[in-house]
Amino acid sequence: MKQSKTKNDIKEDKTARYIRLGVNIDHTATLRNARGGFEPDPLQAAFVCRDAGCDQITVHLREDRRHITDRDLEILTRAGAFPINLEMAAVDEIIKIAVKNKPYMATLVPERRAERTTEGGLDAHASRKTLKTQIKKLKDAGILVSLFIEAEKKQIEASLETGADAIEIHTGRYAECFNRNDFAAELARIEKASEFAHCEGLLVNAGHGLNYFNVRNICAVKHIQELNIGHSIISRSVFYGLHEAVASMKSIMLEFK
Ligand code: PXP
Repeated sequence: MKQSKTKNDIKEDKTARYIRLGVNIDHTATLRNARGGFEPDPLQAAFVCRDAGCDQITVHLREDRRHITDRDLEILTRAGAFPINLEMAAVDEIIKIAVKNKPYMATLVPERRAERTTEGGLDAHASRKTLKTQIKKLKDAGILVSLFIEAEKKQIEASLETGADAIEIHTGRYAECFNRNDFAAELARIEKASEFAHCEGLLVNAGHGLNYFNVRNICAVKHIQELNIGHSIISRSVFYGLHEAVASMKSIMLEFK
Protein backbone atom coordinates (compact mmCIF):
# COMPACT_ATOMS: atom_id res chain seq x y z
CA MET A 1 0.00 0.00 0.00
CA LYS A 2 1.23 3.46 -0.93
CA GLN A 3 1.57 5.41 2.32
CA SER A 4 1.73 8.90 0.85
CA LYS A 5 -1.40 11.00 0.29
CA THR A 6 -2.73 12.90 -2.70
CA LYS A 7 -4.85 16.07 -2.47
CA ASN A 8 -7.95 14.04 -3.40
CA ASP A 9 -7.35 11.55 -0.59
CA ILE A 10 -7.27 14.49 1.82
CA LYS A 11 -10.55 15.81 0.45
CA GLU A 12 -12.03 12.37 0.94
CA ASP A 13 -11.03 12.44 4.63
CA LYS A 14 -12.84 15.75 5.05
CA THR A 15 -16.10 14.19 3.99
CA ALA A 16 -15.68 10.93 5.91
CA ARG A 17 -18.95 9.89 7.48
CA TYR A 18 -17.37 8.16 10.43
CA ILE A 19 -14.60 9.10 12.83
CA ARG A 20 -11.37 7.31 12.04
CA LEU A 21 -9.68 5.38 14.84
CA GLY A 22 -5.90 5.32 15.07
CA VAL A 23 -4.67 2.79 17.62
CA ASN A 24 -1.39 3.65 19.27
CA ILE A 25 0.50 0.36 19.66
CA ASP A 26 3.63 1.74 21.39
CA HIS A 27 2.88 -0.22 24.56
CA THR A 28 3.16 -3.55 22.75
CA ALA A 29 6.77 -2.55 22.06
CA THR A 30 7.19 -1.40 25.68
CA LEU A 31 6.19 -4.90 26.82
CA ARG A 32 8.45 -6.58 24.29
CA ASN A 33 11.41 -4.41 25.31
CA ALA A 34 10.85 -5.18 29.00
CA ARG A 35 12.00 -8.75 28.35
CA GLY A 36 13.98 -8.30 25.12
CA GLY A 37 13.34 -10.66 22.20
CA PHE A 38 10.31 -10.58 19.93
CA GLU A 39 7.11 -10.87 21.95
CA PRO A 40 4.64 -9.28 21.65
CA ASP A 41 5.27 -8.30 18.07
CA PRO A 42 4.00 -4.79 17.13
CA LEU A 43 3.39 -5.96 13.55
CA GLN A 44 1.09 -8.70 14.77
CA ALA A 45 -0.63 -6.15 17.00
CA ALA A 46 -1.16 -3.89 13.99
CA PHE A 47 -2.83 -6.69 12.03
CA VAL A 48 -5.12 -7.54 14.96
CA CYS A 49 -6.10 -3.85 15.30
CA ARG A 50 -6.79 -3.63 11.59
CA ASP A 51 -8.88 -6.78 11.59
CA ALA A 52 -10.83 -5.41 14.56
CA GLY A 53 -11.77 -2.31 12.56
CA CYS A 54 -9.21 0.38 13.30
CA ASP A 55 -8.41 2.77 10.49
CA GLN A 56 -4.74 3.46 11.10
CA ILE A 57 -1.82 2.40 13.26
CA THR A 58 -0.14 5.10 15.33
CA VAL A 59 3.41 4.77 16.62
CA HIS A 60 5.75 7.20 18.31
CA LEU A 61 9.41 6.89 17.35
CA ARG A 62 10.91 8.61 20.38
CA GLU A 63 14.38 10.04 20.34
CA ASP A 64 15.30 7.63 23.18
CA ARG A 65 13.65 4.68 21.34
CA ARG A 66 12.04 3.52 24.57
CA HIS A 67 9.39 1.51 22.74
CA ILE A 68 9.05 1.60 18.94
CA THR A 69 12.39 1.17 17.15
CA ASP A 70 13.60 2.19 13.70
CA ARG A 71 13.22 -1.43 12.63
CA ASP A 72 9.60 -1.56 13.87
CA LEU A 73 8.77 1.52 11.84
CA GLU A 74 10.41 0.10 8.76
CA ILE A 75 8.53 -3.20 9.08
CA LEU A 76 5.20 -1.48 9.75
CA THR A 77 5.45 0.92 6.81
CA ARG A 78 6.76 -1.76 4.46
CA ALA A 79 3.93 -4.12 5.38
CA GLY A 80 1.74 -1.73 3.41
CA ALA A 81 -1.33 -3.14 5.10
CA PHE A 82 -2.51 -0.08 7.05
CA PRO A 83 -1.90 3.67 7.06
CA ILE A 84 0.79 4.59 9.58
CA ASN A 85 0.57 7.76 11.66
CA LEU A 86 4.07 8.49 12.93
CA GLU A 87 4.19 10.63 16.07
CA MET A 88 7.55 12.35 16.17
CA ALA A 89 9.57 15.29 17.38
CA ALA A 90 10.36 17.90 14.73
CA VAL A 91 14.09 17.19 14.81
CA ASP A 92 16.38 16.52 11.85
CA GLU A 93 17.25 12.93 12.79
CA ILE A 94 13.63 11.77 12.98
CA ILE A 95 12.55 13.82 9.97
CA LYS A 96 15.14 11.97 7.88
CA ILE A 97 13.77 8.65 9.11
CA ALA A 98 10.20 9.74 8.32
CA VAL A 99 11.15 10.87 4.83
CA LYS A 100 12.85 7.51 4.22
CA ASN A 101 9.91 5.41 5.49
CA LYS A 102 7.11 7.64 4.15
CA PRO A 103 4.29 6.98 6.63
CA TYR A 104 0.82 8.16 5.61
CA MET A 105 0.93 10.90 8.23
CA ALA A 106 3.43 12.51 10.59
CA THR A 107 2.08 14.04 13.80
CA LEU A 108 4.60 16.44 15.27
CA VAL A 109 4.67 16.36 19.05
CA PRO A 110 6.77 18.01 21.74
CA GLU A 111 9.18 15.58 23.35
CA ARG A 112 10.92 15.72 26.69
CA ARG A 113 13.27 12.91 27.66
CA ALA A 114 12.05 12.46 31.23
CA GLU A 115 8.31 12.53 30.47
CA ARG A 116 6.23 9.35 30.84
CA THR A 117 4.03 10.27 27.87
CA THR A 118 3.59 13.35 25.67
CA GLU A 119 2.88 16.17 28.11
CA GLY A 120 1.16 19.25 26.69
CA GLY A 121 0.84 20.32 23.09
CA LEU A 122 3.45 21.59 20.70
CA ASP A 123 4.14 25.32 20.93
CA ALA A 124 3.54 25.84 17.21
CA HIS A 125 3.47 29.59 17.69
CA ALA A 126 6.93 29.82 19.26
CA SER A 127 8.53 27.46 16.75
CA ARG A 128 6.54 28.31 13.62
CA LYS A 129 9.57 29.37 11.57
CA THR A 130 11.52 26.14 12.11
CA LEU A 131 8.36 24.09 11.82
CA LYS A 132 7.66 25.57 8.40
CA THR A 133 11.00 24.29 7.08
CA GLN A 134 10.65 20.87 8.74
CA ILE A 135 7.06 20.44 7.53
CA LYS A 136 8.05 21.25 3.98
CA LYS A 137 10.54 18.35 4.00
CA LEU A 138 7.79 15.97 5.14
CA LYS A 139 5.22 17.29 2.69
CA ASP A 140 7.70 17.13 -0.19
CA ALA A 141 8.00 13.42 0.62
CA GLY A 142 4.20 13.09 0.23
CA ILE A 143 3.51 12.80 3.97
CA LEU A 144 0.41 14.40 5.47
CA VAL A 145 1.44 16.58 8.42
CA SER A 146 -0.49 17.10 11.63
CA LEU A 147 0.49 19.18 14.68
CA PHE A 148 -0.40 18.02 18.20
CA ILE A 149 -1.53 21.25 19.86
CA GLU A 150 -3.64 22.62 22.68
CA ALA A 151 -7.12 23.85 21.74
CA GLU A 152 -6.03 27.48 21.35
CA LYS A 153 -6.69 29.92 18.51
CA LYS A 154 -3.10 31.17 18.63
CA GLN A 155 -1.77 27.63 18.11
CA ILE A 156 -4.23 26.93 15.29
CA GLU A 157 -3.27 30.14 13.50
CA ALA A 158 0.40 29.25 13.88
CA SER A 159 -0.32 25.73 12.55
CA LEU A 160 -1.85 27.29 9.43
CA GLU A 161 1.20 29.47 9.02
CA THR A 162 3.50 26.42 9.10
CA GLY A 163 1.65 24.76 6.21
CA ALA A 164 0.41 21.78 8.26
CA ASP A 165 -2.54 19.84 6.81
CA ALA A 166 -4.09 18.88 10.13
CA ILE A 167 -4.07 19.45 13.86
CA GLU A 168 -4.52 16.92 16.62
CA ILE A 169 -6.20 18.57 19.59
CA HIS A 170 -4.64 17.50 22.90
CA THR A 171 -7.47 16.04 24.97
CA GLY A 172 -5.33 15.30 28.05
CA ARG A 173 -6.71 18.17 30.10
CA TYR A 174 -10.29 17.24 29.11
CA ALA A 175 -9.61 13.67 30.30
CA GLU A 176 -8.34 14.93 33.67
CA CYS A 177 -11.37 17.24 34.04
CA PHE A 178 -13.69 14.34 33.12
CA ASN A 179 -12.33 12.34 36.06
CA ARG A 180 -13.28 15.23 38.35
CA ASN A 181 -16.68 15.53 36.65
CA ASP A 182 -15.89 19.13 35.80
CA PHE A 183 -15.23 19.09 32.07
CA ALA A 184 -17.82 21.42 30.50
CA ALA A 185 -15.45 24.37 30.05
CA GLU A 186 -12.67 22.22 28.62
CA LEU A 187 -15.05 20.50 26.23
CA ALA A 188 -16.38 23.87 25.08
CA ARG A 189 -12.79 24.98 24.43
CA ILE A 190 -12.23 21.90 22.25
CA GLU A 191 -15.50 22.49 20.36
CA LYS A 192 -14.55 26.09 19.64
CA ALA A 193 -11.08 25.14 18.48
CA SER A 194 -12.41 22.36 16.26
CA GLU A 195 -14.87 24.73 14.60
CA PHE A 196 -12.22 27.37 14.01
CA ALA A 197 -9.62 24.93 12.64
CA HIS A 198 -12.16 23.31 10.31
CA CYS A 199 -13.32 26.68 8.97
CA GLU A 200 -9.68 27.57 8.29
CA GLY A 201 -9.32 24.40 6.19
CA LEU A 202 -7.44 22.13 8.59
CA LEU A 203 -8.32 18.49 9.22
CA VAL A 204 -9.18 18.08 12.90
CA ASN A 205 -7.96 15.08 14.88
CA ALA A 206 -7.87 14.57 18.65
CA GLY A 207 -6.21 12.34 21.18
CA HIS A 208 -4.55 11.68 24.52
CA GLY A 209 -6.15 10.27 27.65
CA LEU A 210 -9.27 9.10 25.82
CA ASN A 211 -10.96 5.96 27.15
CA TYR A 212 -14.22 4.01 26.99
CA PHE A 213 -15.91 6.42 29.42
CA ASN A 214 -14.84 9.86 28.23
CA VAL A 215 -14.64 9.33 24.46
CA ARG A 216 -18.31 9.95 23.59
CA ASN A 217 -18.19 13.69 24.31
CA ILE A 218 -15.22 14.03 21.99
CA CYS A 219 -16.89 11.97 19.27
CA ALA A 220 -19.81 14.40 19.46
CA VAL A 221 -17.56 17.39 18.71
CA LYS A 222 -18.32 18.61 15.20
CA HIS A 223 -15.54 18.27 12.61
CA ILE A 224 -13.33 15.88 14.56
CA GLN A 225 -12.51 13.25 11.98
CA GLU A 226 -9.95 11.08 13.74
CA LEU A 227 -9.01 9.95 17.25
CA ASN A 228 -5.69 8.45 18.25
CA ILE A 229 -6.00 6.24 21.30
CA GLY A 230 -3.41 4.02 22.97
CA HIS A 231 -3.26 3.49 26.71
CA SER A 232 -6.90 2.63 27.39
CA ILE A 233 -7.15 0.20 24.47
CA ILE A 234 -3.94 -1.64 25.32
CA SER A 235 -4.95 -1.72 29.02
CA ARG A 236 -8.32 -3.27 28.17
CA SER A 237 -6.61 -5.78 25.90
CA VAL A 238 -4.77 -7.25 28.90
CA PHE A 239 -8.10 -8.56 30.18
CA TYR A 240 -10.23 -9.03 27.07
CA GLY A 241 -7.79 -9.29 24.18
CA LEU A 242 -6.69 -6.70 21.66
CA HIS A 243 -9.32 -7.52 19.05
CA GLU A 244 -12.17 -7.00 21.51
CA ALA A 245 -10.59 -3.83 22.92
CA VAL A 246 -10.29 -2.21 19.49
CA ALA A 247 -13.69 -3.40 18.29
CA SER A 248 -15.39 -2.03 21.44
CA MET A 249 -13.82 1.40 20.98
CA LYS A 250 -14.70 1.42 17.29
CA SER A 251 -18.31 0.48 18.02
CA ILE A 252 -18.64 3.43 20.43
CA MET A 253 -17.22 5.73 17.76
CA LEU A 254 -19.62 4.38 15.16
CA GLU A 255 -22.53 5.72 17.24
CA PHE A 256 -21.45 9.16 15.99
CA LYS A 257 -21.48 11.01 12.63
N1 PXP B 1 -1.92 11.37 20.34
C1 PXP B 1 -0.65 11.75 20.57
C2 PXP B 1 -0.08 12.85 19.75
C3 PXP B 1 0.14 11.12 21.55
O1 PXP B 1 1.40 11.54 21.78
C4 PXP B 1 -0.42 10.04 22.28
C5 PXP B 1 0.41 9.32 23.29
O2 PXP B 1 1.42 8.62 22.64
C6 PXP B 1 -1.74 9.66 21.98
C7 PXP B 1 -2.47 10.35 21.02
C8 PXP B 1 -2.40 8.52 22.68
O3 PXP B 1 -2.59 8.85 24.03
P1 PXP B 1 -3.15 7.76 25.04
O4 PXP B 1 -2.11 6.68 25.14
O5 PXP B 1 -3.33 8.51 26.32
O6 PXP B 1 -4.43 7.24 24.47
